[in-house]
Amino acid sequence: MIKRVGGGAVLGAAVVVGAWLAWPRSPASGRQAEPIQAPQRGETAKFFGVASCASMACHHFNGAKAEARSEYSTWSAWDKHARAYAVLENDRSRRIVRNLYYSEADPDKVPATARRLCLECHSTYAAKGEAGERFFVGDGVGCESCHGPAEKYLTTHYARGFKEKSNEEKESVYGLRNVWDLSKRTKLCTSCHVGNATKEVNHDLIAAGHPRLNFEMGGYHGIYNKHWNDRNYTTNPAKNQPVDFEARLWLLGQLTAAKASLELLESRAANANKSIDKPWPEFSEYACYACHKNLELLDSREVERQTAKYKTRPVGAPAYGTWYLSLVTPLSKKLGGETASALPGDLAKLRGIMEKPAPNAQAAAREAGAAARRLDQLIARVAKEPALDPKQLRGYIELFAQDGADRAKGMDWDDATQVYLSLAAFQTALSDSGKADPGVKNDLLAIKKRLRSAFPPGVDSPQYFNPVAEPTLASQLDTIRRHLGK
Ligand code: HEC
Ligand code: HEC
Ligand code: HEC
Ligand code: HEC
Repeated sequence: MIKRVGGGAVLGAAVVVGAWLAWPRSPASGRQAEPIQAPQRGETAKFFGVASCASMACHHFNGAKAEARSEYSTWSAWDKHARAYAVLENDRSRRIVRNLYYSEADPDKVPATARRLCLECHSTYAAKGEAGERFFVGDGVGCESCHGPAEKYLTTHYARGFKEKSNEEKESVYGLRNVWDLSKRTKLCTSCHVGNATKEVNHDLIAAGHPRLNFEMGGYHGIYNKHWNDRNYTTNPAKNQPVDFEARLWLLGQLTAAKASLELLESRAANANKSIDKPWPEFSEYACYACHKNLELLDSREVERQTAKYKTRPVGAPAYGTWYLSLVTPLSKKLGGETASALPGDLAKLRGIMEKPAPNAQAAAREAGAAARRLDQLIARVAKEPALDPKQLRGYIELFAQDGADRAKGMDWDDATQVYLSLAAFQTALSDSGKADPGVKNDLLAIKKRLRSAFPPGVDSPQYFNPVAEPTLASQLDTIRRHLGK
């Protein structure tokens, strides 16, 4: 049984996220535009702090949530990122630090707010020499965490001619990060929400009290309290989101998050046991509930579930990659082409290595790296593909419902939740294009309820999740296909 590891948050979004609010965007007003000045090259840009963005004439207009020019107002009132530093001062953080650094004479002496590990994700981390005068670490995950250090764009990004520049030039010359590209946007989120070679939440951190990170782009983007309106770019066709936005976000989000998790595994394996904070095998790579479970007496239906589970992996081995890699195999089969077709084989090989009792770190690093590189090529290809039409969107729903039904009996909560989130993303895209089948929405709500109610009150493990309880998960997924006329 696991307590307090944050299982249900990701379910908050989906299905309901389709309620786009669209109101015409007011023409950019405010400052008088000055001609643009190109920045000095060289040196890394400095972080100027949230205060530099927050004047009334700029992003602190105090309008309604998500209204243009009220980005600061929205962030400070609604965005959890604004409080990311503050949580480092709470009791839970104190407990984490004490557990993690128990071997230090007085762990409390260096609190979470002074630990680089925590600050890397819970604030705009400015290395030595990177902080400008108004920079304030207490701002948490501020504007520049996502938009890049402001030094080179602060005084130019509202000047005449800036708007017309390409997103690439804004990024490479002015340091304004390209958050519009959805795979780049996902990579930004995964840097903290999945982790990377320089910052990670491993099982030690989780056991010490940190919530588990189970990021999924569609879900998190859906529950994120945004300071922009996705469908509010009617005045700028270049930014107008395609009608298949939710599907595209899911597709690129899946592939990019899978890549991030493989790169993280690659670096964990490459540094295996090199220091006390690099344990190997790293438990957070595996299905949490493989180890953290109650010992139950199996009734006949449970035996069926157990048999299904051990069809694909050795008895007693914890499953690797149940969250980030759960759907990459069916997805790559669907995408086709040389790169995608090779991925399922790569992943099967990697699973084979990881699910051995003492996984070979070198082999794991090699295979994880190879699969990550392959995903990179696939992402570049998918990013260029034209918008999906309703028929294609429906094709994806069919695929994941069918694949899910085939595997349902042996699934754990992670896997089932990923299936649900995929279906919800494509259903939302269909509903945005006005072509959704109403029956499917209710089918999805029933599955969502099943996933949510798997958590007993006060417990953060899905102890009640049972895919073979009536109505079985497989039958629920079949109903979706029936509603699509299959
Ligand atoms: C790799 C990035 C990363 C690192 C390193 C990290 N965190 Fe976090 N932390 C997160 C993310 C992301 C969340 C939000 C999880 C979610 O809701 O999905 C979070 C959530 C938390 C929470 C729960 C906050 C709440 O609102 O309940 C606490 C407490 C916390 N972190 C403390 C710490 C401490 C203390 C450290 C350093 C020992 C640390 N974190 C290191 C990324 C990180
Ligand atoms: C967690 C990451 C994150 C943080 C923190 C953040 N932003 Fe953003 N912001 C984004 C993303 C992603 C978009 C792109 C949305 C789009 O245009 O589709 C965006 C869009 C914007 C836009 C609209 C740009 C346009 O295309 O017209 C403005 C203005 C903006 N942010 C300002 C701010 C300010 C000011 C802050 C701090 C108070 C801030 N942002 C904090 C991620 C972030
Ligand atoms: C610099 C690190 C960082 C980046 C980049 C980042 N986040 Fe976060 N995010 C955090 C931390 C830390 C928290 C936890 C804050 C807390 O609980 O107070 C968090 C919390 C959240 C939450 C609230 C989750 C909950 O349980 O309610 C959402 C949603 C979220 N982030 C979405 C995003 C998205 C979408 C992006 C990319 C556009 C993104 N984040 C980029 C660090 C980051
Ligand atoms: C290979 C087995 C294994 C896997 C997989 C695993 N854990 Fe653990 N976990 C352990 C062991 C062993 C402990 C130490 C138990 C103890 O101290 O009583 C532990 C401790 C914990 C604790 C602290 C419990 C306590 O009472 O102090 C938490 C929380 C936790 N794990 C969460 C997770 C999460 C979340 C995941 C998935 C991301 C996960 N674990 C994956 C074996 C595992």
